[in-house]
Amino acid sequence: MTHTPVPRVLVPNPEAIAEAAGRLRAGGLVAFPTETVYGLGGDAGNATAVRRIFAAKGRPADHPVIVHLADAGDLADWARDVPAGAAALARAFWPGPLTLILPKAAHVLGVVTGGQDSVGVRVPAHPVARALLAEFARLGGHGVAAPSANRFGHVSPTTAAHVAQDLGVAADLILDGGACEVGIESTIISFAGDGPMLLRPGGIGPEAIGRVLGFPLRAADGSAPRASGTLASHYAPHTRTLLVPADALHAMLAQHETREERIAVLARSVREAEGFDGAWIAAPQDCAGYAHALYANLRALEASHADVILVESVPATPEWLAVSDRLARATRGEDDDRD
Ligand code: TXA
Ligand code: MG
Repeated sequence: MTHTPVPRVLVPNPEAIAEAAGRLRAGGLVAFPTETVYGLGGDAGNATAVRRIFAAKGRPADHPVIVHLADAGDLADWARDVPAGAAALARAFWPGPLTLILPKAAHVLGVVTGGQDSVGVRVPAHPVARALLAEFARLGGHGVAAPSANRFGHVSPTTAAHVAQDLGVAADLILDGGACEVGIESTIISFAGDGPMLLRPGGIGPEAIGRVLGFPLRAADGSAPRASGTLASHYAPHTRTLLVPADALHAMLAQHETREERIAVLARSVREAEGFDGAWIAAPQDCAGYAHALYANLRALEASHADVILVESVPATPEWLAVSDRLARATRGEDDDRD
């Protein structure tokens, strides 16, 4: 009889952290929680380890990955130039859900940067991520390359179970830190072109960043470096997913009885109709709560085996920018970029 290998999921006590850091030093892959989403980590100084990350995710090799650092003081080891604005953002928001794209130091591997002249760096705030990075540094490691720990194109993972579902034993071990607090990926700001530019909205809003910079943040334009996560349809459930305003959702539900399709709903203000027999999730009304639960909700609706997932649209206000961005990607058709 053959056994399907089971992913190793560990409670992140000091022994597990020590084992995980040792695995990273040895070229292994460790999935770990951050405050945004789970990452699939490998030694950023080991090209073979980074290539294994791409293989585990099924991600094209030319996509850059973020280097996670134990301490903001390590920034100068990875960037050859740290503009004053970038240093100010690092001081204001690290550890936290912010990634800075900076001109790369000479030693940074091409497999990490996707062959570009810039590198993405972030100091995460999650205590398990911090403990892992600190222990990795104590063992002589310098930075952990980690994309989100999902299969390429799928919804990002916010629990250890999501990682196990997507990656199985492709990660040597998974540190289980519970559900990620923020729930969507970090804000990405590029300083690689002229002046800071928002490449991906995320856990920290553009107004907060503009206040620290002293001027409004620019949205990405044609001069932005290629940031696959910002251009693509990804974060997508396997089930066809549509974003619909509340009134349209009402109308679709009214016709539901006569439709052949099995419908699953991620609602916010719309109440579950009497007699509705599909999967229904009433999402939190507040933006932080909505973001925290979003990926778990999409995965749960996907698991209901509906023909279509209907997502009630969210307010078109700046506060909801990052959530709207993820919903737009989850509900868009095929694209070439799915980190
Ligand atoms: O919250 C997060 O950022 C999570 C956690 C694990 O830290 N990580 C994450 O990584 O979302 P990933 O690889 O799924 O998305 C990172 C995005 C990608 O779209 C990648 O193209 C972009 O960052 N990126 C990384 N390095 C870059 C660079 N040098 N230039 C432009 N874009 C870069
Ligand atoms: Mg990703």
